[in-house]
Amino acid sequence: MKTLIIYTSKTGTTEKCAKKLSAALKSETRLLKLRDAAKENLGAYDAIIFGSYIHIGKVPSKLQKFIGKHPELMEKKLGLFLCMGDTAEKLDEYLANNFNERFLNHCSVKGYFGGEFNFEKMGFVIRKMIKKMSEGKELPSVKVENIESFARKFEG
Ligand SMILES: Cc1cc2nc3c(=O)[nH]c(=O)nc-3n(C[C@H](O)[C@H](O)[C@H](O)COP(=O)(O)O)c2cc1C
Repeated sequence: MKTLIIYTSKTGTTEKCAKKLSAALKSETRLLKLRDAAKENLGAYDAIIFGSYIHIGKVPSKLQKFIGKHPELMEKKLGLFLCMGDTAEKLDEYLANNFNERFLNHCSVKGYFGGEFNFEKMGFVIRKMIKKMSEGKELPSVKVENIESFARKFEG
């Protein structure tokens, strides 16, 4: 099985998780940034996994557009994971608000990989805002065990 992981990452965490997932998968896997995926022949892959961050409840619209432009995705094995600051309880709500039901039902595994606030990669205003919002709260972290169990389920 040939697997393609297409990810989009603003401050690096989704990219890091996509790399960890790639290492955890036993099948031949290629990693591609969403911005480079337009040129890729999806026909060369049996399985495609999408990974995204969440900003203000949303995945980037470019990801939604890419999925909308490729109806052939529905003939492949699909997976989807999110990196986010919220807890796992919010995953289903974010998925339902960002992807259509048919696509979600076709994804054999949907993963919550946790997230990180990479303050050094944020602009001044956003950094201030996120620091203020997260004051006194536990900072989010990447859930490595979720990445490993995603890989097992996806290939199992
Ligand atoms: C401006 C901004 C808005 C965010 N909004 C949300 C949100 O609505 N819900 C959430 O769970 N996490 C939110 N986050 C947290 C990110 O999803 C989290 O930091 C994620 O790990 C970022 O992934 P990336 O490094 O690949 O961009 C937000 C982060 C930023 C900087």
